[in-house]
Amino acid sequence: MPWKNDVIIAAYAKTGTTWVRNIVSHLIYRQNPQAMEMYKNLHAFLVYLETGTLLDKLPWKRRILATHIPAKLLNMKRIKGSGAKIICPIRNPKDQIVSWYNMAKKLPVPKNHELVKSLYPRTWEEFIEVYTQGQQPLASKVGEWYPDYLLSWYQHKEDENVLFVVYEDMKKDPVKEIQKIADFLDIPISESDLDEVVHETSFNTMRRQSAQIEKKLDFYRKGEVGDWKNHLTVAQSEMIDAKIQEKLGHTDLKFTYEP
Ligand code: A3P
Repeated sequence: MPWKNDVIIAAYAKTGTTWVRNIVSHLIYRQNPQAMEMYKNLHAFLVYLETGTLLDKLPWKRRILATHIPAKLLNMKRIKGSGAKIICPIRNPKDQIVSWYNMAKKLPVPKNHELVKSLYPRTWEEFIEVYTQGQQPLASKVGEWYPDYLLSWYQHKEDENVLFVVYEDMKKDPVKEIQKIADFLDIPISESDLDEVVHETSFNTMRRQSAQIEKKLDFYRKGEVGDWKNHLTVAQSEMIDAKIQEKLGHTDLKFTYEP
């Protein structure tokens, strides 16, 4: 059951979950170093809605939770009724897919095991095919590709307890986007504190402070907009465009592919 003050970051893998979590933690805990330290030290996995009842034991008055579950599988009415707020990061699907592929390669799973082999295409070409069909090992608990997931959340874009933030906008103007998040969470913040949050949550700072496991996975890999151009062929890019058009063409959702 969500609590009144909870903030839930609802994001598809590799679309900015950690970045937004970090921003929110700085906004909420910045005047409480002890709470901040506790949040930093808690394994990221433990704040996921997917972990269930453990969440009730979390020590903060205002919890920062996360989830990769699509809205249609959550009790959105109950979340709204509780007063909890939800932030949904959006990132262009081409950079998302590159980001995921690069991390998936590094995940410590037995990729040669018979069971895993069929799920785990080894070449980039194979991966893109399988991934965009929604058969994506380890990326999502429900076997959906990003546009399907996004559609489920996008139906809530007018809900007053839901805020969408765009990865590419955050890259371009972090001050503006972080202010937007602070306003949404009813957190007053001075100009100088806002600058500090921008600095503390910049790619370079987060990368420098990253944990050992994150270093191993190259978790803070590039943090850029448009890296997909170094990986996708024209044909692959067009294939993704066509699939996105088919799935999201009827919405006003537009992605930013250029820095
Ligand atoms: P890349 O692999 O393209 O570098 P998630 O947290 O949802 O798994 O997303 C991870 C992606 O967000 C990675 O993308 C990572 O580098 C990027 N990222 C994390 N922190 C960031 C920051 N402060 N600024 C920009 N990108 C960031």
